[in-house]
Amino acid sequence: MSQNISTAVMARRVEAPDSLDYFPTPPWGTRALIERADSHTFLGLDQLTVWEPACGEGWMARPLGEYFGRVVATDCHDYGVGYPVHDFLMPYLPEVLQDRRPHWIITNPPFNAAEQFVARALDLATDGVSMLVRTSWLEGIGRYERLFSRTPPSLISQFAERLPMHRGQVDPEGGTATAYVWITWLIGWKGEPIFTWIPPCRADLERESDYPPAAPVMAAAGPLEAMMMEGSR
Ligand SMILES: C[S@@+](CC[C@H](N)C(=O)[O-])C[C@H]1O[C@@H](n2cnc3c(N)ncnc32)[C@H](O)[C@@H]1O
Repeated sequence: MSQNISTAVMARRVEAPDSLDYFPTPPWGTRALIERADSHTFLGLDQLTVWEPACGEGWMARPLGEYFGRVVATDCHDYGVGYPVHDFLMPYLPEVLQDRRPHWIITNPPFNAAEQFVARALDLATDGVSMLVRTSWLEGIGRYERLFSRTPPSLISQFAERLPMHRGQVDPEGGTATAYVWITWLIGWKGEPIFTWIPPCRADLERESDYPPAAPVMAAAGPLEAMMMEGSR
């Protein structure tokens, strides 16, 4: 990846306040969930709707559009790329969902409100919820008592390879000291959580086109296209 491309990717249109915890996800990290976390769960998605409720500039919403029939993407902050503004923790749905609950809710939630995001997502999704969080989020007595012991996840999918994430930017050249895991709750699941590793897959799932030299692809789309992306698979 050339230094020019990397620098351009960092040039974002609208700064998010630090309190919003904006750590965008490199696209291959989302493809890894769908393609490598489990061989049974993520099938037939082209008929389904996914809501990415904390989409930032769309770094996760865009790869979700490669698999799902419909992607609804919103964020409480206007990053200037056309996604509707909606606070996910408010007790109503955004207009773009037209009062229809989504099949899936998938996001990388703000660290400081991740637990509330999981609770709200579990109330709304009809099929499943996947959250990308720091692996250290799995521990903690309070979170265990409030969440994991009462509503155990179905799948815990740990990246074997580091997924580099940085505040406010996707930097394909960047490294990280932080480990990340996908946690998935299948609605109606009964049983013990299944732990798996996501094998190293960055080389297979990352594409040069993921890091456009100018603003992200969705920046060029109008608000309607930004709200509803047809699956391209
Ligand atoms: C860790 S970033 C993830 C961005 C995006 N999901 C991704 O993976 O590229 C967290 C995002 O949550 C958004 N956010 C924070 N609080 C929110 C809320 N109450 N409702 C909706 N979005 C929120 C921030 O603006 C930020 O874009």
